[in-house]
Amino acid sequence: MKDIKILISEEQINRRLDEIAGKIMEDYKGKDIVFLCILKGSVFFTVELAKRIKNNVQFEFIEVSSYKGHESTGKININKDITETIIGKEVIIIEDIIDTGRTLSFLKEYLLEKMPSTLKICTLLDKPSRREKPIEADYLGFTIENKFVIGYGLDDEQNYRNLNYIGYIEE
Ligand code: IMP
Ligand code: MG
Repeated sequence: MKDIKILISEEQINRRLDEIAGKIMEDYKGKDIVFLCILKGSVFFTVELAKRIKNNVQFEFIEVSSYKGHESTGKININKDITETIIGKEVIIIEDIIDTGRTLSFLKEYLLEKMPSTLKICTLLDKPSRREKPIEADYLGFTIENKFVIGYGLDDEQNYRNLNYIGYIEE
């Protein structure tokens, strides 16, 4: 049995989600918002954040893959695309973690072609030390060091997504 350590507790995550939700409501007063959730890692973050927001929130889901094991392959594939138009809409991409920035740099360009009114990025975690592309979040939960993390949606080979905290495996 692997030893999982807690990096960010559920209480810490909840407190931060309240703050991010507050900021989003300030910025989008009276507007409908589209949460564009990147599957699968951002599902927990998307839902928990949306529950704290009073604006009307629509949901879109996109699934991309770039990872094999712990290392990014650099090539991004769209496995599942969004299903409704986002033309003229206020879109926020909801991501679990920005690592090299390749996924979001690709997605931002791809989604801008679909002509949303605005396109912002909200990420639960950021690992700036590994960045290769100049991507920055508009809303950020936590900056973390260069550690491979699991839980709250994040996986290690599809495992551990349902942990209610962000953890890491002590080898
Ligand atoms: P990027 O394209 O390198 O920024 O990679 C972003 C994606 O890699 C995230 O959406 C995650 O799915 C995955 N990823 C990056 N770091 C981690 C980690 O520490 N744990 C689990 N998944 C990660
Ligand atoms: Mg992801």
